[in-house]
Amino acid sequence: MTRREAVAAAAAGITIVTSAQAKPAALGGDPVRKKPFPGWPIVGPAEKDGLQRVLTSGKWYRGNGQQVAAFEQKYAELIGTKHCLAVANGTSALMVALHGLDVQAGDEVIVPPYTFIATINAVLSKCALPVFVDTDAASFQIDPSKISAAVTDRTVAVIPVHIAGTPADLDGVLAAAKPKGLKVLEDAAQAHLAEWKGKRVGTVGDCGTFSFQASKNLNSGEGGAVVSNDGDFIERCYAYHTNSNARKPPAGSGAFMSGWNGAPAAQGANLRLTEFQAALLLAQMERLDAQSKRRDENAAYLSKLLSEIPGVTPAAWPKGATRSAWHLYMFRYDASQFANLPRAKFLKALSAEGIPASGGYAPLNRQPFMENILNSRGYQRIYGAARLKQWREQNELPVNDRLCNEAVWFTQTMLLGEKRDMEDIAAAIGKVRQFASALATSSTPA
Ligand SMILES: Cc1ncc(COP(=O)(O)O)c(C=O)c1O
Repeated sequence: MTRREAVAAAAAGITIVTSAQAKPAALGGDPVRKKPFPGWPIVGPAEKDGLQRVLTSGKWYRGNGQQVAAFEQKYAELIGTKHCLAVANGTSALMVALHGLDVQAGDEVIVPPYTFIATINAVLSKCALPVFVDTDAASFQIDPSKISAAVTDRTVAVIPVHIAGTPADLDGVLAAAKPKGLKVLEDAAQAHLAEWKGKRVGTVGDCGTFSFQASKNLNSGEGGAVVSNDGDFIERCYAYHTNSNARKPPAGSGAFMSGWNGAPAAQGANLRLTEFQAALLLAQMERLDAQSKRRDENAAYLSKLLSEIPGVTPAAWPKGATRSAWHLYMFRYDASQFANLPRAKFLKALSAEGIPASGGYAPLNRQPFMENILNSRGYQRIYGAARLKQWREQNELPVNDRLCNEAVWFTQTMLLGEKRDMEDIAAAIGKVRQFASALATSSTPA
């Protein structure tokens, strides 16, 4: 049997393994794949030159260097927005943007539960109340049809998160948010170059935020950005991110970096990106387009192969999504189609075949930290027992609970290699399915 025939069989859910592979790797057989997937980050002369230039210039921060400003201009052009402010990381981008939107203690902000905890932490950093809205079963994104019911007279904003780099249903979110006067902050931490109806995400709502943390498709170790077409909003963000120093002090104020530069309009913090990080981003950006195209191609091929395997359902795109960043490749695993092999054992068996995979997020709305926060002195005082009781009663998100038990993730770097890599992934899943019964009854701990 040729390799291609084996892959086709795997894709059809009828893997026929060679004698060397006659057992799943988790039970002592040969793995489908022995080669590692592409590593990350990818580093070349541009990164080294950029860092060296900043090092020898002695200009290491945005106040005296030019890299941060150059990056802001290039990134704004790349995603098609008027303004970009670079900040220390994606979490601080969210905090800065919430400040720019004037989110305050006592306000409520609608969030998805299927996200990284930073989305929620940023809301909590403003002493605002995150209100969770359930997930759409097919897309794994926030379900806009459930937003209206979660709005109260304290709600000021919605944060759709483009999870895995695939756009959330922005038309649905805007239709729910705008008639109620809510701001829309797109958390695009995972979604560089993703598109909604041909427009880059982060530019569809009132503002967007990005992360350039080490795992992200655009990476400087740590880093983040806030984008918007609203110049006044960006100036509020700018002042906040550099300890309340406005970019353009009022004429005649005369003060500079003495704590206040003449007109402290609000509180602030130091959340500046360094020149070193901006130099790395400028270099990494040169590869972003080609890498994104490679992920597009490989993900489409993988979806074609996986959609044929019973029990594996790739996450759907909301209607209106025209490009994913493929920061993650996600699918739903149906154990009933795999001889009731528990997901934990499926993941272990896949990993033994040389295909690293994870089960993704746990339900954030149920994590103990939320209860601790609701019980804190400050939240009790600001929101009152009646509102917090109601919050707990409404905090039932059955679609998300189920998804958190069924999801499987591959990381973006697995999509950066060859078509053959996708065939390995499909073949490994097919093989695990073929031996699911033996794996399910084996005593190997999950
Ligand atoms: C959806 C989401 N929001 C926010 C963040 C926070 O970004 P950072 O880690 O750069 O602070 C992340 C990072 O993983 C994320 O995935």
